[in-house]
Amino acid sequence: MTRMAFIGAGKMCEAILRSLIRSGYLKPEDVILSDISSERLSELSERYKVPVVSANRAAVEQADVIILSIKPQSHPEVLGEIGDTLREDQVLISIAVGKSTESIEHFLTKPVPVVRVMPNTPAMVSASLSSISYGKHVTEPVREMVKEIFSDLGEIIEIDEKLQDEVAAISGCGPAYFYLMVESLIDAGVRIGLARPVAKKIAVETMIGSGFMMRETEMHTAELRDMVTSPGGTTIAAIEALEENGFRAAIFRAVHAAVRRAKEL
Ligand SMILES: NC(=O)c1ccc[n+]([C@@H]2O[C@H](COP(=O)([O-])OP(=O)(O)OC[C@H]3O[C@@H](n4cnc5c(N)ncnc54)[C@H](OP(=O)(O)O)[C@@H]3O)[C@@H](O)[C@H]2O)c1
Repeated sequence: MTRMAFIGAGKMCEAILRSLIRSGYLKPEDVILSDISSERLSELSERYKVPVVSANRAAVEQADVIILSIKPQSHPEVLGEIGDTLREDQVLISIAVGKSTESIEHFLTKPVPVVRVMPNTPAMVSASLSSISYGKHVTEPVREMVKEIFSDLGEIIEIDEKLQDEVAAISGCGPAYFYLMVESLIDAGVRIGLARPVAKKIAVETMIGSGFMMRETEMHTAELRDMVTSPGGTTIAAIEALEENGFRAAIFRAVHAAVRRAKEL
């Protein structure tokens, strides 16, 4: 049985953990969590009945797969601490934005397989999109194992590591863009007189329905949009207003800003 350690028990750790336990992929006793905050460890230990430890090195020593789920800014400190503990029969998976497998391997004293994965928070409900790329010591069985873990959380794509920051600007940050869009629609609904719970139900279900349409019909988004946009109708009037206010340009700028920030981290 694979034992999995999470170094950093924050939001992404919980999203992944919750999903893997719920699906039965992991049993709580096969997990070990480590974090700087004992409060957070108690909270997750209580919620998921998983073992916890306050020392990162101790967590690493007990695991076959280590998920590094700390902020990119904590990488030098934590990798400096655990770098000489990691062995070549283990697998280190980093989910940090902006941190290359090469920069991680630099801290390791042995030829440890390092994998870089960018999941997103819908992992919490097994609807993640995870982009995966591999460091120089990764073998075929390790690839298969990592793909199996992240397939349990949703969809996966394997990509050239050079593109991870670009993919993350859409998939990792993307949920926030969509939530902002829905939040704006809810407020707009309230502005035109709908009760907030009604506006919320309409906006959320419309987003989910549109998501299913894109995935299940595989039609081009422009074609799907045309189906809602009759000549001289209400939708085209709304689209005109969105375009006049730079909707597309705002999205382009947002994605560029996310990529720029990833390169700074
Ligand atoms: N959130 C997302 O949507 C998302 C999506 C994809 C990938 N990611 C990546 O996932 C990683 C984690 O993000 P997150 O949103 O889960 O962050 P987070 O909630 O801040 O979780 C990080 C956890 O690590 C803890 N920590 C800090 N220093 C530590 C140390 N020296 N040893 C052990 N634990 C330590 C933090 O404790 P304190 O809070 O007390 O500092 C916190 O509990 C990041 O690298 C991020 O780039 C995030």
